[in-house]
Amino acid sequence: MSSVSDLPEALLGELIAAARKASERAHCPYSRFRVGAAVLTNDGRIVAGCNVENASYGLTICAERNAVFAAVHQGMTSLHAVAIFTPTGEPVTPCGACRQVLREFARDVPVVSECASGVRLHRTLGMLLPDSFGPESLA
Ligand code: THU
Repeated sequence: MSSVSDLPEALLGELIAAARKASERAHCPYSRFRVGAAVLTNDGRIVAGCNVENASYGLTICAERNAVFAAVHQGMTSLHAVAIFTPTGEPVTPCGACRQVLREFARDVPVVSECASGVRLHRTLGMLLPDSFGPESLA
């Protein structure tokens, strides 16, 4: 699934709703920047995560990575789509580190960002991380 148009609208809605719900669980007392992410796994599950900050700031983990790591624990071997929700005025895309972590489980999947104003940004992982290094590079 490389384009968002391959994703049924209802499933995309579910994925974004899961990301929005996860953002409400963010532990972000330092930045006050809530992020929720949800991944659609190869076996059709939706697994979400939120950002978790730490008083030792550098230990903070982004929502996208927490979603991916939780999904791996639930048996995910590849991901089919990603949604990010932030209660901001403009949609937010995954940081560079998270792009690379997503790339471990997908080459070119839809990455949809939605914000509180309802604006949706449709990207693909290939757009966000072109000419990427991934598992196949080691073969
Ligand atoms: N954050 C994410 O959760 N995902 C991103 O892709 C960018 C940043 C979090 C980390 C930190 O808790 C807060 O947003 C501000 O950087």
